[in-house]
Amino acid sequence: MSDAYNQLLDATIQHLQGLKARGVRFVSVEQENLSALTRTPRPPAQIPAASVTPPPVPKPVERPVVQAAPLFSTPTEIPIATGPVLTGEAKVAAFAELRTRAMVCVKCPHLAASRKNVVFGVGNIDAELMFVGEAPGADEDAQGEPFVGKAGQLLTKIIQTMGLQRDQVYIANILKCRPDTPGQSAGNRKPTPEEMQTCIPYLHEQIDLIRPKVLVALGGTAMEGLLGKTGITKLRGQWHTYRNIPLMPTYHPSYLLHNQLLSEKRRVWEDMLGAMEKLGMPINEKQRNFFLKG
Ligand code: URA
Repeated sequence: MSDAYNQLLDATIQHLQGLKARGVRFVSVEQENLSALTRTPRPPAQIPAASVTPPPVPKPVERPVVQAAPLFSTPTEIPIATGPVLTGEAKVAAFAELRTRAMVCVKCPHLAASRKNVVFGVGNIDAELMFVGEAPGADEDAQGEPFVGKAGQLLTKIIQTMGLQRDQVYIANILKCRPDTPGQSAGNRKPTPEEMQTCIPYLHEQIDLIRPKVLVALGGTAMEGLLGKTGITKLRGQWHTYRNIPLMPTYHPSYLLHNQLLSEKRRVWEDMLGAMEKLGMPINEKQRNFFLKG
């Protein structure tokens, strides 16, 4: 093989390993390139072409452009972040580059067509605490910021009750675009597994760059997207691990808006107390006793 060919091959392998280390599990390859990859490379330039019998060109293999597969079928498949820990200007630049890519994403053409804004994420990229929700709703789509509607206002209250401000944490969603609801003038829908699988690499990259000390998964879809685990009622309140980062699942704030039971509010609050303890945050008596019956 020629040097140029080997260099290209090495660069491609390095690039793919980098993506894999950042949690990217699938890459889109155009049919034309896939077909080219199945062909034997041309002989090195120094061998006279006339003395070489051209190798038979294999028939292009029909393969799907993107493989469909479950997000993660077993916890062992969850990629561990192995890339360098970026800080300072390098981190800001990497985050800006990621944001730029996400802002023009058209991988889900139906969502790219229906969205008003890509809702990338908001907050401090050096945050120790990161919240992950499901997907933007109508308010978030309109404003381009996650958790700004009614559920978002409740999340902001929870964050403040923990003694923090929104700009001290980072907030993102599994999906960066609002799931479309064709023919409906209102309402939201859960992201499909395909939409989640397509979009989640952006979240993986966000988490890899931020490297929070604690993750909070807001609701079942966030848990499904991050760990492939279902059943938020059983999952919440217990520590899980996402790529070496402690992850606390809790109910989605919109669940609390629909279920006003004190016991449910207390459950979410206990999950937040757990996150505060894990972060070594001070917890006062008032905070400890929120939502406990008199
Ligand atoms: N619900 C979510 O999961 N995310 C948002 O950004 C808003 C509502």
